[in-house]
Amino acid sequence: MSFTDGLVDAKSAWFAELDPQLPAAVRPPDGDVITAALPTGERVAGILTTTSVAPDSTTSLWSALQVWELHPMIGANGMTELLAQWSTMMGRRAPGADSACLVTWPSRDAAATRAFLAHGMVPLSTLAIRTGGALLPSPGNVRVRRARPKDIAVALPLAMAELEYSAQVGGSVLRPGAREIKRTALTRHITQGDPVFLAERDGIAVGLAECWFSDSAAGSWSETRMRHGHWGYVNSLSVAPDARGEGVGRELMSVVHRELAADGAVNTFLYYNPPNPLSTVFWARQGYRPLWTIWEIRPAGALR
Ligand SMILES: CC(C)(COP(=O)(O)OP(=O)(O)OC[C@H]1O[C@@H](n2cnc3c(N)ncnc32)[C@H](O)[C@@H]1OP(=O)(O)O)[C@@H](O)C(=O)NCCC(=O)NCCS
Repeated sequence: MSFTDGLVDAKSAWFAELDPQLPAAVRPPDGDVITAALPTGERVAGILTTTSVAPDSTTSLWSALQVWELHPMIGANGMTELLAQWSTMMGRRAPGADSACLVTWPSRDAAATRAFLAHGMVPLSTLAIRTGGALLPSPGNVRVRRARPKDIAVALPLAMAELEYSAQVGGSVLRPGAREIKRTALTRHITQGDPVFLAERDGIAVGLAECWFSDSAAGSWSETRMRHGHWGYVNSLSVAPDARGEGVGRELMSVVHRELAADGAVNTFLYYNPPNPLSTVFWARQGYRPLWTIWEIRPAGALR
């Protein structure tokens, strides 16, 4: 029995109160313990982990290279005090320029949101799940099909267009090796048979949806984010810049949702960036709503 066991129960109880779609809390990873005192005298705790990301990894396309992540082990109270303590602690470190402080926390915890904003953190990314089933009419002149290995040459520019756009409106980073990293990842997913779809209009590829499955089961990473089950994950959706706003994304996703459900997905999830003016509206219309918000500050030394 570790000291975090009681804290996990308190955190789970708070999650259940906040949002019925949240999974139960699990034990935090190993790391440095941060504690802070509340005005009532009660003490709260969190675990701080540090991660180094390789500059040629897929993770490097959406993450800083040096990440300090706080795993708060709290319920309704204590985020403000914990963040203040963390900020003091970061003042004694010397983070590089390509670094971040990060916390993933339930989107519906409004009081915690106030604390994150007060410490200079920004909601760079949201993990959203589909809870509405809006099936909007589509123009019907788009052909959607599974991508094959020989499609990589046309899929890659679409994947790059998404990265280029997202790097302006969120946490994605256009690294010098991005094209090769994307090519390798796309090749692996298509070759291993993951559900990757192309949308074509008049025989020209105008959209790409890169998806795969993620099993949330006991001990898996996914159970820290979603309730147990076989989930469809939409890793990336891209419509060619000159074909946006014409129903291609809608048409593509209507096939993706159908196909992922046919392959046994209980539901689908994805990440989007709250400052993205296209995807935020698009995903809400597709029935997605925030579950987790990924709060970040870059560089890590800017945490206040
Ligand atoms: C987000 C994105 C994938 C959406 O795809 P899209 O093809 O542009 O989206 P759709 O055209 O299906 O729907 C978007 C808008 O077009 C409208 N639309 C749909 N069918 C239409 C049609 N036949 N004619 C005109 N407009 C249409 C929709 O009503 C919607 O209108 P709105 O601007 O009022 O919201 C696309 O804009 C994109 O690639 N953006 C850049 C990369 C990105 O943000 N990717 C997602 C990362 S999470």
